[in-house]
Formats: sequence, C-alpha cells, structure tokens
Amino acid sequence: MADLDPTRIPRHVGLILDGNGRWANARGLPRTAGHAAGEAALFDTVEGSLELGIEWLTAYTFSTENWSRDADEVEFLMWFNQDLLTRRRDSLADQGVRMHFIGDLADRRIPDHNRKEMEEATELTAGNERLHLVFAFNYGSQREIAAAAATIAKRAASGELSPTEIDEKLFSSFLYLPEMPPLDLVIRSSGEHRLSNFLLWQAAYAEFWFPGILWPDFNRDHLRQAVIEYQGRERRFGGADGP
Ligand code: IPE
Ligand code: IPE
Ligand code: MG
Repeated sequence: MADLDPTRIPRHVGLILDGNGRWANARGLPRTAGHAAGEAALFDTVEGSLELGIEWLTAYTFSTENWSRDADEVEFLMWFNQDLLTRRRDSLADQGVRMHFIGDLADRRIPDHNRKEMEEATELTAGNERLHLVFAFNYGSQREIAAAAATIAKRAASGELSPTEIDEKLFSSFLYLPEMPPLDLVIRSSGEHRLSNFLLWQAAYAEFWFPGILWPDFNRDHLRQAVIEYQGRERRFGGADGP
C-alpha cells in the first residue's frame, strides 16, 4: 500500500458512523450495545485525527430521521450522547479539541440536560484550535438548508438584504456553522453507499470511502487507510485533466 503523505492531509473529514445495530445483532445483543461499542471506535478515530493533523472531523451521531426508531433506542441515544460528553469532555479539552454541535438543537424532544451538556462542552473548548470536532446531532442537511433559506427570505423581506446578493458564499454564511470548511473526505462505515441527509451542501466536492466495516470495528488504522486512498484520488473541481 502507498505511504501516507503528511503534506496532503484532508482538512475536513466527515464520518457517517453506521452499522452499530448490525454489529450488535451479529452477537445476539440489543442494538443499544452496538451504540455503546461504537464509542471506543469514535474516540480512537478522534485520536487518529489528532495524530494525522486533520483540522476538522464531523461525526454524524443522530439524524433528524432517527426519531422514527423505537422509543427505547431513541431514549438510549439521547442519554448516551450526553453521557459520553460528560465523561470525555475534559480529556478532549486537554488535547486541544474544540467541540461544536450542529443540528436542530432547539427541538423540544432533546432533553434539556442534554442541550445544556452540549452548550457547556462548546463553551469549555471554545479557545482550542488543534482539532474541530463537530457532532451532527439531530442533524438533517435538508433541514439546515431550509432553515438557511427561511432566514435569508426573512432578511430579504425586511429589506436587510437584496435578493441579488444571494449567491453560494452568502448562502453558506447562513448554515449552522459558517466557519466549517467544505468536506474533503466522507467515510461511511457498514458498506452502505448513501449520505442519508448528511452535509449535502458541504459534500459538493468531497471524495467518498465506503469500507464494509461495521462502525464498532472501525479504528484509527482504517482512518489512515482512508486518507491514503484519498491521496490517490484526482480532485478536479470541475476543471480539466492535465496542464
Ligand atoms: C449507526 O448505527 C448509529 C446511528 C444511526 C445512531 P445504526 O444504528 O444505524 O446501525 P445499523 O445500520 O442498524 O446496523
Ligand atoms: C445515518 O445512518 C445516520 C447516522 C449515522 C446518525 P442511518 O442508519 O440512520 O441511515 P439509513 O437509514 O440506513 O439511511
Ligand atoms: Mg444504520
């Protein structure tokens, strides 16, 4: 396998962590045991990102569509996403990680204590800049884009901005986290080949890697493999090949 080129590390990597339920089913365990096992995989991948010098890592932890799962599983995921922040935030803060949360966080179905934990983690790590770790929680890209359009429409209606000013750059500034750079690489585990409403706008020119690994089996070595694969791709951004 080719060696990793430390000068060509993707700036922003997206993770669609999928396959927890199948991992648990294969072991005769409840689906929630798969989510619990996925935590170590996520934080090993965070460590791997720190080692590689990746600047932005966005992990899809709960989608706007995941509310359709059984109430027990949803309740577990709400509790679990809060609990892992409580347990991990100090060590992440010490490692220079800055945490962000994107999604429909005002949704009343998200428990208040969970929302508070997300706010505290954001504040605690606001001064860090080694790695931006973004949790896409109650996130749906279509909702994000619709919300941006609604805000822009309101501003246009009140005369604060003119419709002629609306272009890609202005639109991007109304997304949940305007400073987030475009995605360079999206990894979806479990062998599925779809985005499932993850960062549609931001993935416009991303490269994709779909390893057939269930999320709890994923680790920093797979991340490294993904980066090597990424470095072998030719990114054109609509341009032509060659000189
Ligand atoms: C991903 O694993 C975790 C979340 C969506 C929260 P799944 O729970 O989707 O696992 P599978 O796809 O059913 O195996
Ligand atoms: C996408 O996985 C959402 C997260 C990883 C949080 P899903 O398992 O919900 O996606 P589908 O239903 O297979 O498309
Ligand atoms: Mg799934």
